Amino acid sequence: TLDKVYAREILDSRGNPTVEVEVSTPDEQMARASVPSGASTGSREAAERRDGDAGRYGGKGVKKAVNAVNTEIGEAIRGIDVREQRHLDNLMLALDGTENKTRLGANAILAVSLAVARLAAQVMQQPLYRYLGGLRANLLPVPCMNIINGGVHARGQGADFQEFMIAPHGAPTLSEAVRQGSEVYQALRQILLAKNLSAAVGDEGGFAPTVASNREPLEFIVQAIEKAGYRPGEDISICMDPASSEFYRDGKYHLRTESSALSAIEMTDYYGELMDQFPIILLEDGLAEDDWDGWKHLYQQLGSRAELVGDDLFVTNVKYIRRGIEENLASAALIKLNQIGSLSETFDAVALCQQHGWGAFISHRSGETTDTFIADMTVALRAGHLKTGAPCRGERVEKYNQLMRIEQALGEGAQYAGLQAFTRRG
Ligand code: PGA
Ligand code: ZN
Repeated sequence: TLDKVYAREILDSRGNPTVEVEVSTPDEQMARASVPSGASTGSREAAERRDGDAGRYGGKGVKKAVNAVNTEIGEAIRGIDVREQRHLDNLMLALDGTENKTRLGANAILAVSLAVARLAAQVMQQPLYRYLGGLRANLLPVPCMNIINGGVHARGQGADFQEFMIAPHGAPTLSEAVRQGSEVYQALRQILLAKNLSAAVGDEGGFAPTVASNREPLEFIVQAIEKAGYRPGEDISICMDPASSEFYRDGKYHLRTESSALSAIEMTDYYGELMDQFPIILLEDGLAEDDWDGWKHLYQQLGSRAELVGDDLFVTNVKYIRRGIEENLASAALIKLNQIGSLSETFDAVALCQQHGWGAFISHRSGETTDTFIADMTVALRAGHLKTGAPCRGERVEKYNQLMRIEQALGEGAQYAGLQAFTRRG
């Protein structure tokens, strides 16, 4: 049973405060979890509760969320069976009583939800991936590594598009995929330095060079794949998250690197041209969170060429994913725990995707901690692919390292997802 519940403020990878929770049993078994924070957040995400007290952390303090755990939430859940995850999450949802977790805060609720799951795994003497996924938890994901950061993750200095990722789907194992990704990353660094471009990194560990177009990062990446000795498209392909809600205004897409604003139809053509020239197998948030009609067109045109993933569009919420499935708008949903704010609801979102042949693309946030929960969760859910930044910066590599540990622990039983993790059709 659950005994103590304790929350504190810690720092995330951007140096902003976030919530960490410790939970324990009466016999002093203890588990800990912390929550991440986004920068290009979707407008329909669950509420991240911040103090708004300008005298502390510029208003970003999370003392109120921490206090909610230490008082109200702790009192409501003490004594429950830690294996009753669904019951725990439902209790907290009911206690909060709002649609978007605005009263207690999704950051408070999620930290408790994850810490209790980890404690339950410990009580059951199982690794987290096994506890969460049972015997089917043996599929290692393709690591989609974000090696060039643009958009708001590079403070508007780089490309318009936020993320340029490499997916080493042709590797035989996850560990080999991590090695290949790291080698391409180091090759890219050399290429940038040789061109007198900055090799300083952005929020997710990728390089953030000043570039003249959105094509240039793709060219650099193809060169880096070749320089590292791999075949673009066959061994390693490219995934892109333009995070287009960030440059969508008045029904148009405003790219810093294009002379005029583009319509959804023109954006779709633009992506189609990029797909003609580069081995792109996944496009996330190609269009904006409110552009539902545009998405329909995008899917009709490009759904057979790349996995089309909705992030800001669906915000890990079954309500919006269901609409996406009914209206045939995409082929996958991005899955971020803190967009919805509890473990059970995240599992529901993934189950809905998988029931309909959709991909579930598991994701970190741009503001992270060293917590590796998503690594175990990806294996548990057989999600087949995840993105958790470049092979650089402690909070990013720790997730990849955890996946390598899991692969080793599974031994012969481990499978690598490879190319089939990417849903293309339509
Ligand atoms: P965020 O970005 O964590 O800053 O919201 C990640 C994404 O858009 O996928
Ligand atoms: Zn995104």
